[in-house]
Amino acid sequence: MMQKPKKMIVANWKMNVTSEKDAVGLFNSIKNVVSKLDYTQMICCPPHMYVNQVAKQANHKNYRVGGQDAYPEESGSRTGETSVLMMKNAGAEYVILGHSERRHLETKSDVARKVTAVLEHDMSPIICIGEETRDKNWKKTLQQQLKDVFNRVPKKNPENIIIAYEPIWAISSDKKNPATSTEYMEALEVIKKELQKIFKTATAVSKIRFLYGGSLDDKNIEDFLKNADVDGFLVGRVSHDPRILMTMFRLVEDHVHKELVEAITK
Ligand code: PGA
Repeated sequence: MMQKPKKMIVANWKMNVTSEKDAVGLFNSIKNVVSKLDYTQMICCPPHMYVNQVAKQANHKNYRVGGQDAYPEESGSRTGETSVLMMKNAGAEYVILGHSERRHLETKSDVARKVTAVLEHDMSPIICIGEETRDKNWKKTLQQQLKDVFNRVPKKNPENIIIAYEPIWAISSDKKNPATSTEYMEALEVIKKELQKIFKTATAVSKIRFLYGGSLDDKNIEDFLKNADVDGFLVGRVSHDPRILMTMFRLVEDHVHKELVEAITK
């Protein structure tokens, strides 16, 4: 039987960790717990300048490192940019792309070029999509965001592609207002149908992994574990709180374990 990929929790530290000492300290405070997990993996995405230091601590398959963005050209006169190649050389295997907090800084074709470059370097893009509100056009918004990326990207290595559904109305919401598992499943249906049209094969789509992100924490993650078809989570606000993060890992781990036991004893 083919082993299912581990569920992933992507910890998007955003700009919330401000020194190398804090970045390494935070990572080390989580890593012992994560290294003992059987079914769950952490992808830690520190600010660019700490990627290398954190990657040096990431010597176990359960925790990997990602960047929060990367520039698609390898090198050149691009003041202030960090290239995909530099990310890779620093130890990142994943890159978050198209995050709603960055979309005002980049065009649709920038996002597509970045996704292409990340795939060409054998890394995994974590592509964020999501609607601003659940208005009458929300499905079209998701469809268009997918077309904007994948109509410009070579359709190779779908197993390296990760799509994070992050409705903008749910991200770091002051009301701590995550989507529900039902809303996520509605979006997943739209996303998979559109990807099926773009990739033209169900096999390719079945290899893509899907995450939910938006005000997730240890209180609401269980709704998604119990009621949604989800490969993992993209976590922002609580991703630098080791106590909450470790509770979330434990909840994911226990859930997958329970599912496996139920499948065997059926
Ligand atoms: P949040 O962030 O968990 O604070 O909503 C998620 C994200 O922006 O990736």
